This record gives sequence, structure tokens and C-alpha cells, in this order.
Amino acid sequence: FAHLSAGDLLRAHMKSGSPDGNMVAEMIKQGQIVPSEVTVNLLLDAMRASGKDKFLIDGFPRNKENRDAWEITAGYDCDMVLFFDCPEDVMTQRLLGRNEGRTDDNIETIKKRFKTFTDSSMPVVEYYRGLGKVASVDAVASPEEVYASVKDHFAKFA
Ligand code: C5P
Ligand code: MG
Repeated sequence: FAHLSAGDLLRAHMKSGSPDGNMVAEMIKQGQIVPSEVTVNLLLDAMRASGKDKFLIDGFPRNKENRDAWEITAGYDCDMVLFFDCPEDVMTQRLLGRNEGRTDDNIETIKKRFKTFTDSSMPVVEYYRGLGKVASVDAVASPEEVYASVKDHFAKFA
């Protein structure tokens, strides 16, 4: 699998000096979802450049607009959705402790990101749950345990 992260691609795009870079930077700072056109194109470019034909995509689709744009542009959907289940207090501690220099790892933006996730991303998770595609992972566990659980979910693709 090629492992691609929508957030990483957007952060690189924001620093690339592209004309919509400031818009992307502001939306990330506000914890909002960047227009799908930008994200889908970044993902498709990275998928082509990878030379692989199986993909693990982190942080996408994050809302219905992302999902619809993906289906129209790419013409296919995913086989599985990994859902890392973790309470907000644990996530907050991890985000505030990771020191990656991100503009959105502060308490104000974290609250906005959680609200965006509940309002816009959870409906997409529920949509995939209805299709039987969601694989849940208890993300409160240690990194080793989380990895083992993720690996189990991939057994069916081996
Ligand atoms: O997934 P990650 O935490 O790296 O995402 C960081 C931010 O990037 C999100 O809060 C959002 O502003 C933006 N993003 C987006 N659309 C996506 C993924 C991330 O707008 N599909
Ligand atoms: Mg991420």
C-alpha cells in the first residue's frame, strides 16, 4: 500500500507558495475542511506519483463534499474505513504533547477540529458503517496494540 495523508499533503501545499496556499493555511488554523477540489487533486497526484495500486489514505473523506467529489473525480470508492476510536480528553493530551509545530495543535483550534469532526466527519463514518465498511480500532491503547489491531483488519487484503 502507498500511505498518503490528506493533512500532510495540504500542509505541504500550504507551504509551497501556491496561490491558494493562504486559504488552505487559514482553513487549517480554523479547523475547517478545505474545499474538496484542492484535496482530491493533491491525493490523485500523489497516488499517480506513488506508482502503487493500493492505497491507505489518512484523513479523507472528512465530509460529504469530500466523499462526493472523490466518487465523481476518481470514479471508485474504498473497501474499508479504519476508525480510530478515542475520547476527546485523550486526543487533546496527545495533540498538545506532540510538538510537531502545527498551527492547529492549540486548545482553541483543537475544540474547533472536534466540532468539525462531530458535525461533518461523523456522518461520513456513519454512511460507511451502513455499508459495513467500518473497522474500529481502540486508539486509547498503546501504539503497539493499535498497530496490531490495524494489522488484523488488513489480513483480509493479504
Ligand atoms: O488529518 P489532519 O489532522 O492532519 O488534518 C489537519 C487539518 O487539515 C484538518 O483539521 C483540516 O483543516 C485539513 N484537512 C482538510 N480535509 C481533509 C483532511 C484534512 O481540510 N480531507
Ligand atoms: Mg493526520
